[in-house]
Amino acid sequence: MVSTTRCPQISRFCTKSKEPPIPVNPLKEVYSANHQVENGIIYDKKPFKMRLEAGKIYSWCLCGRSRGQPFCDATHRNVYLKIKQRPIRFTVTETKEYWLCNCKQTLNRPFCDGTHKRADIQEKKV
Ligand code: FES
Repeated sequence: MVSTTRCPQISRFCTKSKEPPIPVNPLKEVYSANHQVENGIIYDKKPFKMRLEAGKIYSWCLCGRSRGQPFCDATHRNVYLKIKQRPIRFTVTETKEYWLCNCKQTLNRPFCDGTHKRADIQEKKV
């Protein structure tokens, strides 16, 4: 008989994953900018890890042109650049380190969801 309690990590009954769950923006339904369909240009092909404070509101750059990545520096307001994307306002419920998307293609803005690993993104020149 095989015991599932001795080595729970390899048990087929184990539902625990080594990867922490991807956080969700609690402000997702509050700001309409979160429902923008178009993504910005790729700033980097890998995410940025940073410590975020619980309850603080951040503006994540979606257009990919901010010089203060991963946050918005209002470059999208330059009328000559004709940028359609607006920044994503977000917060976190726990003070800790988070992976923020830098490829600007994540499906879970502003957090990295692994979309940057797609071949078409990795092959693009930035
Ligand atoms: S950096 Fe964009 S999904 Fe990971």
